[in-house]
Amino acid sequence: MDLKNLKNEIQEQIKKAEDLKTLNNIYKKYLGKKGEIAKIFSSLGGLPQKERKNVGQEINLLKKEVDNTINNKLKKVKSESKNTEVKEKKIDVTIPGKKIDQGHLHPLTLVQRELIRIFESMGFETVEGPEVETEWYNFNALNVPSDHPARDIQDTLWLKQDENKDSKKKLLMRTQTSPVQVRYMEKHNPPFRIIVPGRVFRNERTDASHDCGFYQCEGLMVDKNISVANFKAIMFAFLKEFFEENIDIRFRPGYFPFTEPSFEIDIRRKKEDWLELMGAGMVHPNVFKAAGLNANKWQGFAFGMGIDRLAMIKYNINDIRLFYSGNLKFLNQF
Ligand code: PHE
Repeated sequence: MDLKNLKNEIQEQIKKAEDLKTLNNIYKKYLGKKGEIAKIFSSLGGLPQKERKNVGQEINLLKKEVDNTINNKLKKVKSESKNTEVKEKKIDVTIPGKKIDQGHLHPLTLVQRELIRIFESMGFETVEGPEVETEWYNFNALNVPSDHPARDIQDTLWLKQDENKDSKKKLLMRTQTSPVQVRYMEKHNPPFRIIVPGRVFRNERTDASHDCGFYQCEGLMVDKNISVANFKAIMFAFLKEFFEENIDIRFRPGYFPFTEPSFEIDIRRKKEDWLELMGAGMVHPNVFKAAGLNANKWQGFAFGMGIDRLAMIKYNINDIRLFYSGNLKFLNQF
């Protein structure tokens, strides 16, 4: 066997090979366990001892060379195939992208923001107050002394605390946003007009139109000669803008210890059922007094509107509890 010829033959084949499969076959054919070179090795037995050694060394050399050439070529072919793969893979920029889920505002937030926008456009300032309130601000200062039967109208969640008789220290979850009326009037002199959106809490059984926590928006406008007519005008303007249509409004006489006279206001859309939307009235002189204002000099109106109710009417929702359910089927509609 002419080793030189064999070497040339193998090198020639490697040179021509253009893919991994052919190269692997060449390797198997010559360098494999049953390949050509192994065959030559096993035939060495027939040679005289001296020759055997020389030829053996030559074959080993040949084996190393061929092995090297194949490995180099393998590397080259691999990197070339990567390059053509990258070149041939086209990016289709017209394929629609994957839709990424995005959060959005809760319907109550939407309604609250709209409410703030409309009232601010009428010169109202938005203020806030604490959700954990003292008995004094939530009741006493609003003309509801401890033994007053009106306390029973709103079932109160009291905070666990030492037996404390002092109403200015006794803590509760506010049952209404009205305490912020007093907090604001203690620090500001009239004239002013404010709204107070916020959460309120009541120890009540829940049903489709009541929940133990909900949102209210308080309103307060005080000047030297504010009347029910001013209140009516502002309410009509607000509701028209908020619902973007004419809404039926009904005033009923009502009772709140902190307003006199008091009324309840119902609204309805397109001949649907009446829905109670807010309590309101002219600020009671005792409330001005509790806040340190001269009740003979100032007068004004106050109202407390249910934000959940507003949202229910606006979006035609029949169960208030849906707002707090975290149900995505419901929430995704907004
Ligand atoms: N705070 C009353 C309620 O929660 C509503 C109200 C506010 C009534 C202001 C009159 C004036 O029912």
